[in-house]
Amino acid sequence: MISMAEFLAKIPKMELHLHLEGAIRPQTAVDLARKNGVALPPFERVEDLYRYDTLEQFLKIYTAVSDSLVSADDYRRVTYEMLESCAANNSRYVEFFFSPQIHFPNGVSFDTQMDGIRAGMADAESDFGVVSVCAPGVNRELGPAAGEDFLDMIFARGDEKLVGIGLDFNEAPFPPEPYAALFERARNVGLQVTAHAGETGPAEFIRGSIDALKVRRIDHGYHVVDDPELMQRCKDEGILFTVCPSTSAVTSPWHDLSAPDHAIRVMKDFGLKVMINSDDPPMFFTDLGKEYGKAAHQLGFTPADIRRSTIDAIEGSWLDDTTKRRYAAEWGAEIDGLIAELG
Ligand code: HPA
Ligand code: ZN
Repeated sequence: MISMAEFLAKIPKMELHLHLEGAIRPQTAVDLARKNGVALPPFERVEDLYRYDTLEQFLKIYTAVSDSLVSADDYRRVTYEMLESCAANNSRYVEFFFSPQIHFPNGVSFDTQMDGIRAGMADAESDFGVVSVCAPGVNRELGPAAGEDFLDMIFARGDEKLVGIGLDFNEAPFPPEPYAALFERARNVGLQVTAHAGETGPAEFIRGSIDALKVRRIDHGYHVVDDPELMQRCKDEGILFTVCPSTSAVTSPWHDLSAPDHAIRVMKDFGLKVMINSDDPPMFFTDLGKEYGKAAHQLGFTPADIRRSTIDAIEGSWLDDTTKRRYAAEWGAEIDGLIAELG
């Protein structure tokens, strides 16, 4: 017999919604800021920086902490530490975002960022066995023209570990449609696409991301529950929602994870594909294991729900089809074995 806590700790996991800069450990931010002579916002204890009530407040701190990254080796360190935490939570495959555009005003080039990130990914894979790929996020607040210039840099780099792009930062008043041409260019060269939508923005931004950007994955997506017709469509089309319990409790209107009408619970119970992620773990005082705990104990995910969401995650990931089939068979069997031990 194993306990629910052991079950949650032992099951194989993947993370499809995790931001590199949001995964900077507080002490690492302080170390790097000091080394680089960068001023962080004032604090008594570093953790006190990580308090916010809205997405806007969060994004200010996220950006300020990100300014502590300057050299390729800084990127290597934070990438390595992020993936070390993933491995500690038995997260075996990770597709992570980062936010290159907010570092350009600090004179940190895309190649510097990628060089460090690639080194951190390689070191973490050999030390912990965790496989990862990355997806730079297009900052919707900076507009499509800046995004197109940024896409040129991505193309110029041509990096095999850079497999897709995201769209993030503040939603309203930045709808997805102006990014349609940029996303088409990205898709045309074989990049995968996903978009943050329906976290603070309306259900319409989810529909717009599916129709204009042609994404098959929505990051967050909680406001889908406001639109029954869109809910049904997302179910019929098998859209995958990468949800983040702790973030949802701060940035979305659903603050109580135990409430019967919490969006994530409603999405799951309706039969949408939802999978669990940590988003910006230290910045929300969490990690992937804790997010699974919240899913199980507060959002009503049964072991069978968690099994289903793991398989949905594998299918909705950017792995190749052969690896998807292998992970689904192996991880499915492993989870079945652990469910049997739950008694
Ligand atoms: N929403 C939008 N942008 C972000 C987030 C988020 O939750 N995390 C990091 N950048
Ligand atoms: Zn996010």
